[in-house]
Amino acid sequence: MGDLIVSIDIGTSNVCTLIGRVNNYTQLDIVGRGITPCNGLKKGVIVDIDSTAASIRDSIEKAELTANMRVGSAYVNIHGMHVNVINNTSQLNIDGNEITRHDIENILHEVSSIEIPEDRQLIDVIPRQYIIDGYDEIIEPAGMVGTKFEVDADILTGKITSVQNIIKSMERAGVQIDGIVAEAFATGEIGLTQDERDIGVVLLDVGGSVTDVSVFHAKRLVFYDTIPVGGDHITNDIAIGLRITNVEAEKIKRQFELALTSLIKNDQEISVMDINENKKKDVKVSEVVEIIEARVYEIFSLCKNMLDKAGVVVPDNGSVVMTGAGISYVDGCKQLANEVFELPVRTVQAGQIQGVSKPEYIAAAGMIKYVSNVKKGASHATEIKLKKPATKKKEVAFFSKLVQFFKDIF
Ligand SMILES: Nc1ncnc2c1ncn2[C@@H]1O[C@H](COP(=O)(O)OP(=O)(O)OP(=O)(O)O)[C@@H](O)[C@H]1O
Ligand SMILES: [Mg+2]
Repeated sequence: MGDLIVSIDIGTSNVCTLIGRVNNYTQLDIVGRGITPCNGLKKGVIVDIDSTAASIRDSIEKAELTANMRVGSAYVNIHGMHVNVINNTSQLNIDGNEITRHDIENILHEVSSIEIPEDRQLIDVIPRQYIIDGYDEIIEPAGMVGTKFEVDADILTGKITSVQNIIKSMERAGVQIDGIVAEAFATGEIGLTQDERDIGVVLLDVGGSVTDVSVFHAKRLVFYDTIPVGGDHITNDIAIGLRITNVEAEKIKRQFELALTSLIKNDQEISVMDINENKKKDVKVSEVVEIIEARVYEIFSLCKNMLDKAGVVVPDNGSVVMTGAGISYVDGCKQLANEVFELPVRTVQAGQIQGVSKPEYIAAAGMIKYVSNVKKGASHATEIKLKKPATKKKEVAFFSKLVQFFKDIF
């Protein structure tokens, strides 16, 4: 049974906390969950630390309650717009000796010693493979013997202000940070197959106010960025187009969950409140869906343009995979994405992932899988025994070893 991992996904709509582990059968075992609306972010950027911290605290408390545990530390996500992933290699001469933990630490330190712009800081170094005397794809080199020891790693750097705001929000919520996870690694780990990541895949995560766009090829993340448009813009367009409040627009969007007028079975009229004239009026469902269709098409076009501009070419046999609550609930998005990208499209199905009932939890669940599979990490969570009179705490998992450079940022 793997160690317990706590993951916190800070999003513009919600903060999601999950407590779980990957079990011996490589399945996700979620023991606690909490979700709380969040108003502290704008366009994926934390603009109000107190409000973000309050949402983090609340979602943790909900998760603690469902798991009957106290959370001490957690992994937290960071969006594509704030991070850069740089691939780097490094090598060490080991003169036919056995590779020690110290050699591994040295080579990781060496590979992460890259020039970082002043406004950025190192967040993480993720070894993708070790190579010993030309033999590649080695995951655990300790104890092996060789002459030339190489590492191929992803170096993660983040905008200092964004990283510090995440750290401050977590600290103010009273939780320690085990690590910061680039969201694409998390959603990629849970939402994509090995084949997709190998052949070439565009992963679109349409959230509330941002859409993360990442591209995987040959098992590596080769592109990662964000556009400042998401599901809330659909709501906004409905509100402006029909002259109704945002609250009513959001309600209608969730009622019909359609993005293609051609999918409407029988068009009907619905009654809405015109905010300019302060009176009820009838609008057709097709009018609503037309607005949704135009915005969803635009979101996908913006993503495609960004990839074209960056010169990212997805192979003809590649595909598009979509996730995020901004589009997951809406029928017809697949057809629109297919039209824009001219590639096969599928949506990550929350129901098919063990322990994940809603699309909102996919990123947090992905973080648990990623931390367990790639980082081999764990969080600090203590079980609360409700035996009276005293509440006894039992340590169930503890992992505090962070790579030194991550400690340096506190
Ligand atoms: N049933 C539904 N039908 C249509 N849209 C929905 C539905 N439920 C939620 N949404 C939309 O999903 C969006 C929120 O998505 P999600 O929870 O993935 O965002 P987030 O992760 O909090 O934000 P971000 O990733 O942008 O920082 C909102 O725009 C909301 O309107
Ligand atoms: Mg999100």
